[in-house]
Amino acid sequence: MKNLRREFLLTSAAALAVKAAPADQEIRAAMIGIGKRGSTLIQQVLAQPNVRIAAVCDIDPQARDSAQSVAKRDNPRSFTDYRQVLDLKEVDAVVVASPCDLHAPMAAAALEAGKYIYCEKPVGITPEQVAMVLEASRKTKTFLQIGQQLRYVAGLRSVIQQLHEGAIGQPYVIRAQRDSTPLSPQAEQARPAWYKDVKRSGDLIVENAVHNLDVCNWVANSRPTSAYGHGKKYYPTPQPAGTLMMDGFCVEYIYENDMHVDYSQLYMHPRTLKDLPTGQWYFIMGEKGTVDLTKGILYGLDGSEPRPLISAEQRGEKEDAMAQFFACIRENRRPVADIKVAATAALTAILGREAIYRRKSVTWKELGVEV
Ligand SMILES: NC(=O)c1ccc[n+]([C@@H]2O[C@H](COP(=O)([O-])OP(=O)(O)OC[C@H]3O[C@@H](n4cnc5c(N)ncnc54)[C@H](O)[C@@H]3O)[C@@H](O)[C@H]2O)c1
Repeated sequence: MKNLRREFLLTSAAALAVKAAPADQEIRAAMIGIGKRGSTLIQQVLAQPNVRIAAVCDIDPQARDSAQSVAKRDNPRSFTDYRQVLDLKEVDAVVVASPCDLHAPMAAAALEAGKYIYCEKPVGITPEQVAMVLEASRKTKTFLQIGQQLRYVAGLRSVIQQLHEGAIGQPYVIRAQRDSTPLSPQAEQARPAWYKDVKRSGDLIVENAVHNLDVCNWVANSRPTSAYGHGKKYYPTPQPAGTLMMDGFCVEYIYENDMHVDYSQLYMHPRTLKDLPTGQWYFIMGEKGTVDLTKGILYGLDGSEPRPLISAEQRGEKEDAMAQFFACIRENRRPVADIKVAATAALTAILGREAIYRRKSVTWKELGVEV
């Protein structure tokens, strides 16, 4: 797709009239950071019609070789320095799945180089990093889509739309959770070094819960004004938060629209404990009842029978985030999970982390970032 980017980067006067790329025009993509997650994303990119992988980039030679072999159909060039990839005129779009602390510098540089970017979450692990990408995105006509793929699950979208249309009247409270059994020492050992280092991952709430907190923001259609919480690395022996990655925390957010979110992520759930469901769930409690978002069921306060809000087929539908990324490029649309969604989610998670670390209530204002 030689001239696609040029067509997209027309002068500002013409920008509104930018032509959509025809479906048969090739888009050239580059993959940056091709570890565990990147290996899944490269398959997703290869599955997109008229998308070619022009370059792969990783500091690990094994990861590069393996990506080149997976993408051998497209014969991509191989790089260790992502800046060289961003200099390639023929690359239209980049997919970034590097460690969390590198997302912001890579995303800002990609936007400045005029590339479209699919960037893994979180968009940044500090307020300064988030601000850096927001700033870069304001200056470009390309866009960032964040890897918060729950935004692209049709069943969730349908239930949330029904909530926004008043399925339970005024929603008041979201109770959400992501529990699991304690991590085995072997599983913990197998984690990459950057993941275990809270200065690089952002800690569990930013690296991982950002997905779930984003769903809460989406449901609330608002964002927090303050947070309070508590967490630790509990196993094998309790350590205060801020040193090793937490394996348990609870956080309470108050929202601009006066809703509140009660979120916990505790890796201490015995396998045999069935009365409290493990895994990920969200219950939205409001004026006329409660919705189980994950199952798509409405429980009325009027005592009526529980009612499904989506069909079994809708519940089983998979996310289509990567297909939407390329569709947005072709059709000159902004992505659903755009920079605003990305920045708000990352800041929500950072706010919770700071409240836990500082052991006091922290306000959104204190983060000092304008979204
Ligand atoms: N959206 C999701 O569901 C989801 C799932 C898993 C992971 N992730 C995110 O994906 C990212 C990667 O996670 P992972 O589990 O694949 O980690 P990983 O360690 O397996 O992969 C990271 C890769 O980045 C490479 N890398 C490091 N520094 C680099 C640099 N300067 N330039 C280029 N490459 C570099 C590493 O060599 C490695 O191959 C993380 O941000 C993680 O939070 C998202």
